[in-house]
Amino acid sequence: MIMNDEVYEAYREAGALAKKMLHQGADLVKVGASLLEMVEVTEAMVVEEGADLAFPLNISFNEAAAHDTAMPGDERTFSSGDLVKVDLGVQIDGYIADTALTVDLGDHADLVEASRAALEAAIAVVRPGITTGEIGTIIQATIEEHGYKPVANLTGHGLGHYDLHASPTIPNIAMAGGAVIEEGMVFAIEPFATTGSGRISEGNRVEIYQQIAARPARLPSARRVLKIARPRRGLPFARRWVPGGKVDIGLMNLVQSGILHPFPVLHDVPGSFVSQAEHTLIVTADGCEVTTR
Ligand code: CO
Repeated sequence: MIMNDEVYEAYREAGALAKKMLHQGADLVKVGASLLEMVEVTEAMVVEEGADLAFPLNISFNEAAAHDTAMPGDERTFSSGDLVKVDLGVQIDGYIADTALTVDLGDHADLVEASRAALEAAIAVVRPGITTGEIGTIIQATIEEHGYKPVANLTGHGLGHYDLHASPTIPNIAMAGGAVIEEGMVFAIEPFATTGSGRISEGNRVEIYQQIAARPARLPSARRVLKIARPRRGLPFARRWVPGGKVDIGLMNLVQSGILHPFPVLHDVPGSFVSQAEHTLIVTADGCEVTTR
């Protein structure tokens, strides 16, 4: 291995834990169950295991692909027919495992299988020397074989120390060239398959933010937000995690002053359905080790 043993162990431990917690969390996605309760219970399980969240548990419904999570006091429940993406990030000392699956409460088995098969096909070809473009080509081909479109403007991503969006970027569509994969790289592959347009856009609602500048704030509500944001060391947090009132005013103030970056809910066209599958892997001399499987 190119990375030192302690770092390697942290990635492995985070992966094993993420795998276990993802499945325990997904088991709570049942018709009639409370979204807020499911999210809070799953997030608490990660902390009880002695690890930390790399980002708030993402639960995105139907045409939403990513970046939704429970709102403060959220009254949504899971309904028959829902297609639910569960995306979990666990970190140990800043070393991240990012993994996702899709729970089908309707009749979308083929669509769920499309992203899962694309993920497996991509993992099977990862080794030093292959390009990210070649990985994207395999993802697109596999999803299209199942009769769906890949989401073109969502990608897999490298996982650095306290860094969720490191290089390389792993496209979900065919591309010429791209980065050359090297031994020791750590990244997540996350194919999204859709019945919609194949392009996601930003919705109005924002539940997840990330601190991008270290400047102080004056507004009391903004200071309360930063008290939650700062210990995250640049990793995302949820609006729901900030205690007290006037949280939205504080958040808006911090976004306007360039201290926070917002992650709006991302969705394909209304009425469409999007599935997702994701694993984190470490590139080895002749292939890869999937940390979250
Ligand atoms: Co990811």
